[in-house]
Amino acid sequence: MHLPKRFLPFVAAGFIALAGANAAEAPIRERIAFNADWRFTKADAGPAPAAGAATPAAQPGFDDAAWRKLALPHDWGIEGPFRQEYPNDTGKLPWWGVAWYRKHFTLPAADAGRRIYLDIDGAMSNAQVWINGRHVGGWPYGYASWRVDLTAHVKPGGANVVAVRLDNPPASSRWYPGGGMYRNVWLVKTAPVHVAQYGTFVTTPVVTQASATVNIDVTVDNRGAATEVQAATEIYALDAAGKRSGQPVARKEPAAPAKAPAGAQVQLSQALAVANPRLWSTASPQRYVAVTTITDKGRLVDVVETPFGIRTIAFDAARGFLLNGSRLTINGVCQHHDLGALGAAINTRALERQLEILREMGVNAIRTSHNPPAPELLELTDRMGFVVVAEAFDTWGIGKTPNDYHLHFDKWHEKDLRAMIRRDRNHPSVIAWSIGNEIVEQGHPEGWKVAARLSEIARGEDRTRPTTAAYNHVGSGYNGFQGAVDVFGYNYKPHEYRNFHEHAPHIPLLGSETASTVSSRGEYFFPVGDDQSKGLANFQVSSYDLSAPPWASPPDKEFRGQDDNPFVAGEFVWTGFDYLGEPTPYNNDATNLLNFTDPAQRQRMAKELESLKKISVPSRSSYFGIVDLAGFRKDRFYLYQARWRPELPMAHLLPHWNWPERAGQVTPVHLYTSGDEAELFLNGKSLGRKQRGPHEYRLRWDDVVYQPGTLRAVSYRNGKPWAEDTVRTTGAAAKLLLSADRQALRADGDDLSFVTVTIADRDGLPVPRTANRVTFSLTGPGEIVATDNGDPTSFESFQSPRRNAFNGLALAIVRPRPGQAGKMVLTATAEGLGSAQVALESKAP
Ligand code: GAL
Repeated sequence: MHLPKRFLPFVAAGFIALAGANAAEAPIRERIAFNADWRFTKADAGPAPAAGAATPAAQPGFDDAAWRKLALPHDWGIEGPFRQEYPNDTGKLPWWGVAWYRKHFTLPAADAGRRIYLDIDGAMSNAQVWINGRHVGGWPYGYASWRVDLTAHVKPGGANVVAVRLDNPPASSRWYPGGGMYRNVWLVKTAPVHVAQYGTFVTTPVVTQASATVNIDVTVDNRGAATEVQAATEIYALDAAGKRSGQPVARKEPAAPAKAPAGAQVQLSQALAVANPRLWSTASPQRYVAVTTITDKGRLVDVVETPFGIRTIAFDAARGFLLNGSRLTINGVCQHHDLGALGAAINTRALERQLEILREMGVNAIRTSHNPPAPELLELTDRMGFVVVAEAFDTWGIGKTPNDYHLHFDKWHEKDLRAMIRRDRNHPSVIAWSIGNEIVEQGHPEGWKVAARLSEIARGEDRTRPTTAAYNHVGSGYNGFQGAVDVFGYNYKPHEYRNFHEHAPHIPLLGSETASTVSSRGEYFFPVGDDQSKGLANFQVSSYDLSAPPWASPPDKEFRGQDDNPFVAGEFVWTGFDYLGEPTPYNNDATNLLNFTDPAQRQRMAKELESLKKISVPSRSSYFGIVDLAGFRKDRFYLYQARWRPELPMAHLLPHWNWPERAGQVTPVHLYTSGDEAELFLNGKSLGRKQRGPHEYRLRWDDVVYQPGTLRAVSYRNGKPWAEDTVRTTGAAAKLLLSADRQALRADGDDLSFVTVTIADRDGLPVPRTANRVTFSLTGPGEIVATDNGDPTSFESFQSPRRNAFNGLALAIVRPRPGQAGKMVLTATAEGLGSAQVALESKAP
């Protein structure tokens, strides 16, 4: 069977229409965004109501008129305020506590007889849900996606109230988790016989140039009377925008009807062949969609679409990671889930921008450290061509903070792990399931058994992808952890790669977390040296990219480890973007500061710590990012770009050249280039031509004596000119320059424009070391939703329209009002520098 003709246009439009004779009947499946018109209150912490107990705020008649009106996704923590006394490992923002969300809604009478589900992509955390006063479920883990069944207690044709209570405990995270219903929420309506949640699983067991076998397993949920069901499938190619292109490339008529007992689930399987498949890869992320049709005694009852890709993956102990049979070196980054100034509240455009910036650097892989990502991330990685290691946990049964996931591990680990894999197993971008990060159980003799069990759960859900874990403490002998996963992930151990491989030559190896170099964009401290514990001042870290905490290293050391050990599949750098929280080396945590190995440094730090007790550390976001919190590229961006995009002619000089106080002093100059040789000129005079030797990943002129003027580098490849960079001493700040990453926007409530303001001199050169206070204002149908500057020590509210530049840059994030198309103008003003404007326009989506 294939879809009736009149049915196709509806499906194509993303709206699944009914198959019955009368087009006015309810559609067979609807998935409705359920984000608008919520009421919110941050209630006082009190004892959690027992599940099912009457609790006033859950009752339909409860008066919530005074509660705040808002739309999801919502993160209450990001609203602040920052407070010095709040923990800095979680961003000095108030993300914990109890809160309630309520939503009033009506359901059409025609929904009688349908199943009504609430799908929550993620709520932080310990969610409990009531519909019309009846408790219907909940989920503790804030990063999980889950569903509650509202059917028994909703009133079709009447008014309904859904109430959600969250209880986000303090001391439950090592980074900023956010708080609230911070991901999307959906109302899903189906027929009693329907495809279960995450009920399709597409695999491609045989892939050749001529043909691919596509298996689709479908779980049908029968919530009605006993019946007989059949599945049929059509496969279409998707274009780059995710739209179906052309006719189906494969089609499968239903097999004989299968019995579906009342209240039971039935598995239906189909195998199709796609001729001349176009393979999904990072270079060419071709996707397909399987459209599965379910009939109940011949009557169409459900249609679901499952986007997927056709590709083969393998991890090989000798060759690394193979995508479609060829080695793909993993040039990856670890990413936490927050979106900087937007907090944890999911925004697809903000995620897409992150990926665009990372791709420009040459990133081809993301590790979702240390938790299941928002579903939108995987839509993007599928579409844009990144491979992903999806990670389940940062802790198992032994915690890292007093109230973290270890409290739930025993009861929930299986549900959480299965939920992640079922949700995400059709994404071609996902190449491995990580069962954990730096798990404390590594230090326990029986710990490997937990790893083995988690791997078994994962394999039970999906045999097409390996399991992995990010280990940092397994020791050099064999202790069971090595064999408990399919791919061994090592955190910060480039010096151990060879040893590991010699002892376990059959186990594929990955640098699951690397570098952890720290730097603040645009900050440079002197003298410059290779002691990685140095380069700290004013709660900032020097951007010569030589500073790192004791367990970590500058990027160069990891590059060497990778180059000397080509069996390693690649690396995931900690981190792509800066994130809220964990401002190492400026943690409050004394042990962290005192970890510095150099005695003089340690003494200095101890002193600093003493005074910190009085003033406390002002840092609230990380220094690990290759890109800062606002999305501005740090110098390190170009070190990675030079390595990961070797065919891109590029050269990047550092530091800036505005050092009036350093005239006559040694001011080292570093160059990141994809060339193999370069010559440096200061004010036209050559300071020497240098070649990159083995294991040299940057060129250094360490004894340059500063004089103002022009620093120019010409790089060469194979003796031929390849790329150039010039840095000039600028004049004083004289004006503002504005640039928007996009000026044409969709008025869909989700789209954003990221506008950068640059403090420039008269000639338009960016002036480093400037901190001018910029005020933003907007006219037209939009709002400034956040501002930032990438300074890890700024306590200015992210919602403030005023923002000091940090080393010459600041950012404003503009969102068009939903449904209101029109022209907007963003103005930035700074005292003495006049103002600048940029025009934006939003169109109806
Ligand atoms: C790792 C850990 C990460 C982060 C990082 C900082 O050990 O897995 O979550 O804390 O250190 O260097």
